[in-house]
Amino acid sequence: MANDRHVSSTLETTLVATAWVVAAVLRGDAPVAVSEVRRADRPVVATDNCRSCHRALVDRYATTAHFRTSGEASMSTILGPSSATVATSVPTTRFQVATRGTTTYQSAVWVEDGKEHSRTERIDLVIGSGRRGQSYLYREDDQIYQLPLSYFRAVDGWANSPGYRDGEVNYARRIPPRCLECHATRFTLVGEPPDFGYAGDPELGIACGVCHGDGSHDSLVNPAELPRARQIDLCALCHSGADRNLKRPPFTFKPGDRLEAHLGPASIAADTVPDVHGNQVALLTASRCLLASDDLTCRTCHDVHEPQRDVLELNDRCAGCHEPSIHAGRTMEPPPGLAAAGATCVDCHMPSQPSRLIRLAVGGQTLAPSYRTHRIGVYR
Ligand code: HEC
Ligand code: HEC
Ligand code: HEC
Ligand code: HEC
Ligand code: HEC
Ligand code: HEC
Ligand code: HEC
Repeated sequence: MANDRHVSSTLETTLVATAWVVAAVLRGDAPVAVSEVRRADRPVVATDNCRSCHRALVDRYATTAHFRTSGEASMSTILGPSSATVATSVPTTRFQVATRGTTTYQSAVWVEDGKEHSRTERIDLVIGSGRRGQSYLYREDDQIYQLPLSYFRAVDGWANSPGYRDGEVNYARRIPPRCLECHATRFTLVGEPPDFGYAGDPELGIACGVCHGDGSHDSLVNPAELPRARQIDLCALCHSGADRNLKRPPFTFKPGDRLEAHLGPASIAADTVPDVHGNQVALLTASRCLLASDDLTCRTCHDVHEPQRDVLELNDRCAGCHEPSIHAGRTMEPPPGLAAAGATCVDCHMPSQPSRLIRLAVGGQTLAPSYRTHRIGVYR
């Protein structure tokens, strides 16, 4: 039955997430203006404690994908159209989005035994900065569930959520803690998995404390002062694939901790090249640039306090270690589809590659979306 309530496995829900990003037919997006962020009715978050002194940094940080990756539902955080009817490939099933006052609802309408049925839930939480899209969650008692429709920026509209078949009416996908550990600062768990729930009042968005720790200013961590492996562990908490299981309770990892104590190993075979989607850490740590240098980390290229969408700026980071004139006098073929004259270091050595894990069904066709690999190397 289409609307059976069943408790989905963590794996299933992880696939939902993985499929997501995919969907995102990758559009580089201009950062959102700070004024727009302020308009959002966000609760007071931990960043406010830092703003009095680190004002410019905090205001820039408020425009990043990290800060905006989760929030309470509101007219300004929900990017999907406030009213819509979404037909599906199941002729008797359609979805509707409606906004009453400041609250937005997702309804499914389907026919069963000759009668029309419907189910409506309110959007309570938003996951995803919207650089590519957003998924939506609703709360029921102390549980949090995914909603069947997601917003895709590439089409600027609603479509079935990743992991949902077109026309699948399923309001029973429980959100596992690991999903929220990667997309929020803190949720308080009630009970033990698998029989757990969430208390109210989560801290949404990724706040300063996730990377700097909590407590007095003197006890804060500056990741730049950690050994390289611990710096990479901090990013790997959320950028080493969604298939690693928690060994300890979620939200207990602290900057400086060993990640192995917090998460189990990735489930892919050791001889398999990690996928380009969502696992920048495994790819980068297999690169000569990292293996043959003492100090390359994620922050060699990225400043996580501001949006990281400018490829040319990132490209300039290569010059920190390589002569920009390295190929002067040599002619090399750029990747297919690029003119040699316009090709940058990143185009040839971090090319966009299709994900092997993610397949999207769009307009009757199956697509594999592409991501820039973080395995820096020679590609021909
Ligand atoms: C009362 C003003 C004040 C507040 C509030 C404040 N800071 Fe700072 N912070 C400073 C100053 C001044 C420095 C530079 C001083 C120094 O180099 O030690 C600094 C330095 C830092 C550093 C670098 C430390 C190092 O060892 O290099 C970090 C990280 C940091 N702050 C994070 C935070 C975070 C996160 C918050 C909010 C939880 C915060 N600060 C709140 C004044 C403040
Ligand atoms: C291991 C950490 C991790 C887990 C678990 C995870 N995500 Fe993500 N998610 C990410 C990362 C990292 C990205 C950005 C990936 C990239 O650009 O390669 C992302 C991207 C997204 C996006 C797209 C945001 C945008 O605009 O580009 C959505 C929506 C999303 N995740 C929802 C979810 C949901 C819902 C769950 C749980 C059911 C989940 N994710 C589980 C780390 C995670
Ligand atoms: C995703 C992880 C992450 C988050 C979130 C984060 N930082 Fe940082 N922060 C770093 C890293 C890594 C460094 C080390 C230097 C660098 O890469 O900029 C750093 C360095 C700093 C410094 C030292 C000065 C400097 O530029 O070197 C300050 C101050 C700081 N952060 C403040 C903040 C504040 C305030 C927030 C919240 C608004 C915040 N950070 C959020 C990762 C983070
Ligand atoms: C608590 C989880 C978490 C941690 C820790 C974390 N990230 Fe992320 N990061 C995410 C998620 C989730 C996204 C996707 C956000 C979205 O678009 O909704 C993301 C997005 C990004 C992006 C794309 C941003 C953009 O502007 O497009 C970069 C780059 C990045 N992270 C680098 C880092 C680095 C470097 C570190 C370590 C210093 C780090 N992250 C630590 C969860 C995390
Ligand atoms: C040598 C430079 C370099 C290093 C080191 C590096 N990155 Fe990147 N990163 C890039 C470039 C270039 C892009 C592509 C930006 C774009 O196309 O918009 C990128 C994009 C990303 C994105 C967005 C992916 C997407 O397509 O949505 C994430 C997330 C990210 N990096 C995380 C990390 C993490 C985590 C680390 C450390 C393990 C890291 N990066 C180390 C250069 C680097
Ligand atoms: C922190 C320094 C550092 C940075 C930054 C850096 N590299 Fe490297 N890279 C190295 C080192 C060291 C080697 C190994 C050289 C050797 O083996 O002789 C290397 C090797 C390479 C190789 C050869 C790879 C192979 O598999 O043989 C390529 C290609 C390369 N880098 C491209 C880049 C590009 C493109 C960027 C910017 C996106 C970049 N590197 C950023 C340090 C760096
Ligand atoms: C048009 C594609 C292309 C561009 C653009 C390009 N490279 Fe390369 N690069 C290659 C190829 C192909 C090789 C392998 C060369 C060979 O085997 O002779 C290579 C080799 C390398 C190596 C290995 C050492 C060497 O000299 O063979 C490094 C390091 C490197 N490139 C860095 C860079 C940097 C830094 C940039 C930007 C300034 C850059 N490359 C731009 C295609 C390119």
